[in-house]
Amino acid sequence: KHFSISVIAGDGIGPEVMREGLKVVEAAEKLHGGVRFSYESYGWGCDYYLKNGMMMPKDGLDQIRDSDVILFGAVGAPEVPDHVSVWELILPIRRTFQQYVNLRPVKLLKGLESPLRHKTHDDLDFLVVRENTEGEYSNIGGRLHEGTPYELAIQNNVFTKFGTKRILEYAYTLANKKQKKNMTIATKSNAINFAMPFWDEIAKEIAGHHPEIETNIYHIDALAAYFISKPEEFDIVVGSNLFGDILTDLGAAIVGGLGLAPSGNINPDFHYPSMFEPIHGSAPDIAGKGIANPIGQIWSVAMMMDHLGLTVLSELIIQSIEEVLQEGLVRTPDLGGYSSTVEVGEAIVHKFKHL
Ligand code: NAI
Ligand code: MG
Repeated sequence: KHFSISVIAGDGIGPEVMREGLKVVEAAEKLHGGVRFSYESYGWGCDYYLKNGMMMPKDGLDQIRDSDVILFGAVGAPEVPDHVSVWELILPIRRTFQQYVNLRPVKLLKGLESPLRHKTHDDLDFLVVRENTEGEYSNIGGRLHEGTPYELAIQNNVFTKFGTKRILEYAYTLANKKQKKNMTIATKSNAINFAMPFWDEIAKEIAGHHPEIETNIYHIDALAAYFISKPEEFDIVVGSNLFGDILTDLGAAIVGGLGLAPSGNINPDFHYPSMFEPIHGSAPDIAGKGIANPIGQIWSVAMMMDHLGLTVLSELIIQSIEEVLQEGLVRTPDLGGYSSTVEVGEAIVHKFKHL
């Protein structure tokens, strides 16, 4: 089997962690005689923007459209406004390729301790499914009366039946595939009085088709608190774009931090490539120092393998990360260690090759 990967390393620590991620891809190929990966790298991002006035070429999306998957690092630089770097690179990829699922595991890896001291590895192991194409991040709205005391801003939320249904249906399909019994749905229908009752109605309809799964619908504020007080209750948590965004960063924080957390921007229908990336940004404060944690990127490679049906390779990568963490010898400073990005990447690759 052959898979083609479009690689967009991006800015700041993006290229630093991507180098380690690609070492794992190469090792996977050697380990598993049956698969081949080829990749093409695209130097898009803020440097490209500063030279060319755009984040990627006009036909950029066409250049990567036919690849099987996209592996992304991180984007963002102090010289370029974030609404430009995000809206002109990541969001067009997510939307054009209908990557309507943002999937993020909240899983405490072996060898790490949660800041929630009393919670175990079994307690902290669930998946968050975030709607990734509509909702609160709509780009529809505007500002009026700028510069006057009457200035105002309006940003419309857009929830379609099609978009809402497909994300909830994906969540239940995933629950069945992973043999999970519990579904948690985020809402705020007491205050967001058009969009969220609409969301709840669709949620209840789809929940009704899945009596085998226990469904709970919680208001987002309470749900955020439950992430801290009773994370063991969750198997799959599904929410709108904004709610899912906030919950997943919170999820990353309770299992050890931003440097570790991976994500998938998934088009479940395989009509277009899906994209895998660590959830962190370009971290300008540590860029160039060689101390970024590469685990978020490497775990994203594992998610990519799982998406491609290479489940065993995916599990072996996660096991390699866990064994390195359990030994505790090689860690980047964000995990209290003294090692470099390269040292951590190579320790994981070494484990992976010798498991
Ligand atoms: P950030 O995630 O880049 O950094 C937040 C904090 O976490 C920093 O102190 C950083 O040093 C630390 N950190 C992040 N990744 C780390 C890693 N792998 N190892 C060790 N420490 C790590 O978020 P921030 O500072 O809010 O944004 C910086 C830039 O990144 C901005 O331009 C922002 O727009 C962009 N960004 C891009 C994202 C993407 O490419 N998907 C996601 C989030 C932010
Ligand atoms: Mg976020």
